[in-house]
Amino acid sequence: MGKPATRRSLPEGFRPLDSFGSIKIKIGLLVTGAVVAAVGMTWIGLKNEMGPTRTLPLAVVTGLVVTQILAHGMTRPLRQMTEAARAMAKGDYSTKVSISSGDEVGELARAFTLMAQDLAQADALRREMIANVSHELRTPVAALQAELENMVDGVTEPDSQTLDLLLTQTRRLTRLVTDILDLSRLDADVVELRPVEVEVEGFLDDAVAAARLVASSAGKHVAFVVDVVPRTLRMTVDVERLHQVAANLLSNAIRHSPDAGIITITAVSTGKWVQLDFKDQGPGIAPEDRERIFERFERGKMAGSSSAASSGGTGLGLAIARWAVRLHAGSLVVADSETGADFRVRLPRSPTARKAAS
Ligand SMILES: Nc1ncnc2c1ncn2[C@@H]1O[C@H](COP(=O)(O)OP(=O)(O)OP(=O)(O)O)[C@@H](O)[C@H]1O
Ligand SMILES: [Mg+2]
Repeated sequence: MGKPATRRSLPEGFRPLDSFGSIKIKIGLLVTGAVVAAVGMTWIGLKNEMGPTRTLPLAVVTGLVVTQILAHGMTRPLRQMTEAARAMAKGDYSTKVSISSGDEVGELARAFTLMAQDLAQADALRREMIANVSHELRTPVAALQAELENMVDGVTEPDSQTLDLLLTQTRRLTRLVTDILDLSRLDADVVELRPVEVEVEGFLDDAVAAARLVASSAGKHVAFVVDVVPRTLRMTVDVERLHQVAANLLSNAIRHSPDAGIITITAVSTGKWVQLDFKDQGPGIAPEDRERIFERFERGKMAGSSSAASSGGTGLGLAIARWAVRLHAGSLVVADSETGADFRVRLPRSPTARKAAS
């Protein structure tokens, strides 16, 4: 009800002014068309001696009809955008805006469509994140709860073995919460670097010392080799952040190393860059997985497992490591290697180079 007859009778795709690229030109043509039609009708009316009382209303109606015909479809994208925005507010991103005009309304509709796609993607990512986070939190919490309930009910004694298990689950929870907090800082872009100049060899020795503890608590016998060329090589980095990177890469290397495997960390200076390679003798990473593993909650398969068994981690380590390296205007990629995995970190040696690189 209330829709002008032309809107119902004219075909959906009929948009006579769509080929004009400016809304000003369209309005100009619209006004000209309506005026010409009204004047023409007045002229016909007067010529046929219809008198002004009949000619005037006829001229007005003719002008309006011509306006409706010429303006057909002009505001349709605006109406669709309003509908789509309302639907988006309710969480439905599927409403389409049909764009055929090249004017400002068309441009707005195109920008709107892109924005809707971005929002839909962000929304899907957010839902996926929440689902993953809740799933990851549920496992250790459920294990803790079950063990504690058993103790309270007197089913099990709080012996050192059970307490050890509880402590492991609690540590896992703490690590997970820290990782998630880091990721939310990443999203909010609120991390500031505190760069200091360090000796690369000393830095890597410290990282290896921490990794040895991780390896021995996991019961894994691996050897570490650090090779820095030149040995006096220095770099300016946020030590805490870069330790996080080294710790994540080394914990992965330990996890995927064979027993008695060797983990090699090399550092070389290449012009304004320092290149660090973390290599292990594990199964390596298939070329098709080399980008995917940097995404949040992406986990590969355990070595030798044909099933979809996960690596035992949460799939956040590499996402955080890449973020920390990028904060330094550097890069973290999987390099080609004949055996095992080679994670390559490239960092600008100094803040000046960093500015130029970013
Ligand atoms: N050195 C490596 N050798 C083989 N595969 C690796 C190696 N490092 C990482 N990967 C693969 O990349 C995936 C993602 O690694 P990432 O560190 O992001 O997560 P995770 O180790 O599974 O869990 P988290 O680090 O959060 O505990 C791993 O699940 C594993 O499949
Ligand atoms: Mg990891």
